[in-house]
Amino acid sequence: MFKKLTLEDLDVKGKRVLVRVDFNIPLDTKGEITDDLRITTALPTIRYISDNHGKAILMSHLGRPKGKVQDDKRLTPVSKRLSRLLGKEVKKMPDCVGAEVKEAIFKMKEGDIILLENLRFHIEEEKNDPTFSKELASLGDLYVNDAFAVSHRKHASTFGVPRLFPQAAAGFLLKQEVEYLDRVNNPDRPFVAIIGGAKVSTKVPIIKNLLKKVDTLIIGGGMAYTFLKALGRPIGHSLVEDDMVDVAKDILIMSIADEVPILYPIDHLIATSMSTDAQTKIVHRGGILEDWYGVDVGPLTIKKFIDCLKGAKTILWNGPLGICEIDRFSKGTRELANFIAASNALSIVGGGDSSAFVIKEGLFDKMTHVSTGGGACLQFLAGEELPGISILTDK
Ligand code: 3PG
Repeated sequence: MFKKLTLEDLDVKGKRVLVRVDFNIPLDTKGEITDDLRITTALPTIRYISDNHGKAILMSHLGRPKGKVQDDKRLTPVSKRLSRLLGKEVKKMPDCVGAEVKEAIFKMKEGDIILLENLRFHIEEEKNDPTFSKELASLGDLYVNDAFAVSHRKHASTFGVPRLFPQAAAGFLLKQEVEYLDRVNNPDRPFVAIIGGAKVSTKVPIIKNLLKKVDTLIIGGGMAYTFLKALGRPIGHSLVEDDMVDVAKDILIMSIADEVPILYPIDHLIATSMSTDAQTKIVHRGGILEDWYGVDVGPLTIKKFIDCLKGAKTILWNGPLGICEIDRFSKGTRELANFIAASNALSIVGGGDSSAFVIKEGLFDKMTHVSTGGGACLQFLAGEELPGISILTDK
């Protein structure tokens, strides 16, 4: 059960509703949006405020401009996309604070929507500066956080501002994220988690937390080679974090103590380099050649992983099984994604590269939940508190 106040608990009619959204979306070199998941998933909250005669004032960051105005990090493409998706004008401000912003907000009519400029053009945002928080807070009568993906940051807009409101509520996306990701704490069993991606170092807390909850843990992707090294297997030139080998050993010992099986790749697609034109071959466990790189799981591994997922009632997937930026090295990730999409299990795809892959493959609607969070999702699944959520008013 979600324990925080939500947007529906507020009376938005005629009120200025300050909404933290996460429109930190990828743009190509021409400034075109390449993935608008974080915009489309914020629409229910924005529509609700506008349809219920509130005045929606949206605030977001984009990238890491470190307190400097950078033209390629303006939110202009977002306001255009939002206007198109909502079928009404979303006026973008040249800044997020100041006299011009105040005047525009003063002139807003019920149902109007305004998007403030990138919060991180002011260094005070990331510093959670109290004066900056006060200035932002003065723009609204009510505060809503619908930015799950940045709720792990203790910034002005996620932490300093909501503190200044008697009631701070969650938007619909934030509520949905928490409700689905929280299923890992009370899963229908069997519960299987697949953790992949490049680096073990970013995934240690989530692996340790999940070991207490899952029935089986599957480890794939670049980080599997650090575990294979810990097991004494040859890994050639594959990606490895040498300073994580001992941590990997600890995790292996934990899994034995907790009696939770961990599955690893049992065969590999190896390549002479990590590039599209490399020479490749499939090798069995222990067969990675000295100067070669592991770039994807092999067919036996895919079968083994999928066999394990067949009876699962809850599946959590975070991180690709191979280098999925290169199509030739994406087979394992693609087969896994297709299997999860077709299964009847409750399927939760956790942020970042896996979410992007699911969208690219057109499988988004076939998953139960695809998280918009990267770091926030990892932190949540590691069982850690997210300041932007804990600061919201309890029900
Ligand atoms: C993200 O993309 O993970 C969020 O928008 C947070 O961005 P940040 O890592 O720059 O704080």
